Amino acid sequence: MSEFIEIVGGKPLHGTVVAGGAKNAGLPILMATLLTAEECVISNVPNLTDTSLCLHLLEHFGGEVSYDGNTARVQTKKLLATEASYSLVKALRASFWVLAPLLARGRAARVALPGGDLIGARPVDIHLEGLTKMGADISLKHGVVYATAVDGLRPAVLDLRFPSVGATHQLIMAASLTPGRTILKGAAREPEIIALANFLNGMGADIQGAGGNIVEIHGRSELGGVTSNLIGDRIEAGTYLLAGAITGGRVTVEGIDPLYFGSFLSILSEMGLEVSCGDQSVTVTSKGRLKAVNVKTGPFPELATDLQAPLMAALTLAEGTSTIEETIYEGRFGHVSELARMGASIQIQDRIVTINGVEKLTGAPVDGLDIRAAAAVAIAGLAAEGRSEVHEPHHLRRGYEHFERKIGALGGQVWSRISDPDDFIFAGC
Ligand code: UD1
Repeated sequence: MSEFIEIVGGKPLHGTVVAGGAKNAGLPILMATLLTAEECVISNVPNLTDTSLCLHLLEHFGGEVSYDGNTARVQTKKLLATEASYSLVKALRASFWVLAPLLARGRAARVALPGGDLIGARPVDIHLEGLTKMGADISLKHGVVYATAVDGLRPAVLDLRFPSVGATHQLIMAASLTPGRTILKGAAREPEIIALANFLNGMGADIQGAGGNIVEIHGRSELGGVTSNLIGDRIEAGTYLLAGAITGGRVTVEGIDPLYFGSFLSILSEMGLEVSCGDQSVTVTSKGRLKAVNVKTGPFPELATDLQAPLMAALTLAEGTSTIEETIYEGRFGHVSELARMGASIQIQDRIVTINGVEKLTGAPVDGLDIRAAAAVAIAGLAAEGRSEVHEPHHLRRGYEHFERKIGALGGQVWSRISDPDDFIFAGC
């Protein structure tokens, strides 16, 4: 027996949902707790599979961990391990980011290379080059990164060839526990970088310029505990706004700073939606059929690659021909064949996808092949005529807390089912 999500589409979504804590801020922040022997308390931590995997990882390194579904408490009095095996890194790709805290605090680390995945090759050369410049001795053997810094890391001036989010997280973490001044040029500017920097500043580091291209880190020989609240999840929030848009409804997402969306909100306006922003909320109202747009993904503040798949779902119903260029991941198109099963007309050439808007989608059984592909087919199902089944929903569970409950609150018809027809459960709505 396996779980799938049943969706009966065709009803405009109306109402308000609250964004959960940002998964992609929570993961580096939880890993940063390894930089101190004191207790860190983090609230608004989303209850997702990725969170559980990350907490498990911290326990593996000696963390005393508790989590009540919202607040995580972590205290790693002593690092009890320096190795992250392939099974850990494979289960949670971002586990690779423990390399920096282990190296900065424990002066040695062995972390399996994450390798590629369904969406692309995903190398880690920028991470390793930066740590090497900070004095780490790094070698690769049998798919494992061996890193040591016997005399500790040293501050450096680092210039990233691409604003990698993960490399920026790693190098800011490493520099925070390295006495002296490290300069990071070409840093990623995503809101999650600012969130990590604020957290580290709360631990006693002095980081200036996070959110810009150049970040200056005055590291300390010791960091302390901190109490912190996670920012809202802009990708989850963007997905719910698109769910409102694709169904011709009106959706407000609260608990999110509109500035976190970068260019995404102006793309929604260009698609003919009315977008209004509060201090910590965004409302999107449909004004007739969506319009086609030509957009490309890119580092923040450009369109987030993580919103490419749900945006494409919405564009399948837009009037006219849209294009999306995916500049971040060469293979992030797993949703295309599934959207086509629902009646979408989409062609891929290299990294450019052309979407010819159709009048309607029809419900179908589809696979959610990765976290955002699953979100894309789920919101397409909400707009489609009839019944859809989203299989492999464990991908969706990695990034969307209480999905059925939140969509149900907006009037969507979504249930978690198991494949045995005589034995199903309703979840939410
Ligand atoms: C993070 C996010 C992910 C998002 C991505 C881009 C988390 C847990 N994951 O992933 O959801 O899609 O940012 O916004 O926060 N690259 C290199 N060498 C490197 C590192 C990266 O070539 O050393 C390339 C990658 O192959 C990719 C691009 O840079 O093509 C972006 O990667 P990066 O920004 O590092 O993404 P992640 O941090 O892995």
